[in-house]
Amino acid sequence: MTARILDGNALAQRLRADFKTRAEALAARGTRPGLAVILVGEDPASQVYVRNKVNACAQAGFHSVRIGYPADVDPQLVFARLAELNADPAIHGILVQLPLPKHFDSDAVLKAIAPAKDVDGFHAENVGALMQGHPRFIPCTPYGVMKFLADAGVDPRGKEAVVLGRSNIVGKPMAMLLLQASATVTVCHSQTRDLAFHTRRADILVAALGKARFVTADMVKPGAVVVDVGINRLPDGKLCGDVDYAAVSEVASAITPVPGGVGPMTITMLLANTLEAAERELR
Ligand code: GUN
Repeated sequence: MTARILDGNALAQRLRADFKTRAEALAARGTRPGLAVILVGEDPASQVYVRNKVNACAQAGFHSVRIGYPADVDPQLVFARLAELNADPAIHGILVQLPLPKHFDSDAVLKAIAPAKDVDGFHAENVGALMQGHPRFIPCTPYGVMKFLADAGVDPRGKEAVVLGRSNIVGKPMAMLLLQASATVTVCHSQTRDLAFHTRRADILVAALGKARFVTADMVKPGAVVVDVGINRLPDGKLCGDVDYAAVSEVASAITPVPGGVGPMTITMLLANTLEAAERELR
């Protein structure tokens, strides 16, 4: 079997064309969707992510501001800026790029974002809303994965779904969304005994553990749908996912590549959430 390749760039392009039209409709009513992105420190990967987010906003006709701080900034300055952004009518979405430097209390920072502008969906109130089944903002990466599945015609209902990784950003919300879509969900992590036992049972396998080419062909059930959330840099500088793409493609029925899979969809869903926040304000 050679897996169908789920093309994140193509799906992202289709969705973003729709967002642009919706942004134009808002602009005609005097509102431009606005996103503020805060980056503390100079982590190279975070800098790339933030640049991509700001560029995606520009391409979709959104307003965006990038606010940078040195790694040793006094957290009070960031809290003060968040309070300003919370009150700024030109800003509909606020995102603080994670991870933050160690002297920050990340939970406190995320809680300082107005829940109605929390386009990452990381505020405790929004996490709770997702858990209760009436999400206000769905975290962008798992949201993108669900869009991928829907676009590929994969209905999670009744399927065995296995999520590798239990982070607040991907693993936990991913499991919750698959559960709400009526899958039977297993979450595996670094302390899971016999991980391959679980992965081999998966009709839908989502890898988000941050280990290059960790998922090998023998860990995958023939015909499974494999979604690779990982972005790892190999010693030769090339990017690769958490899945051994070449080998697993021979076993799976559908697979997302890295790059060009989940990555472009994550930013696309950030645009979706920002647009939604702006539209809600006019309702
Ligand atoms: N760091 C890695 N992924 C994300 C994300 O989706 N949002 C934020 N704010 N930081 C991240």
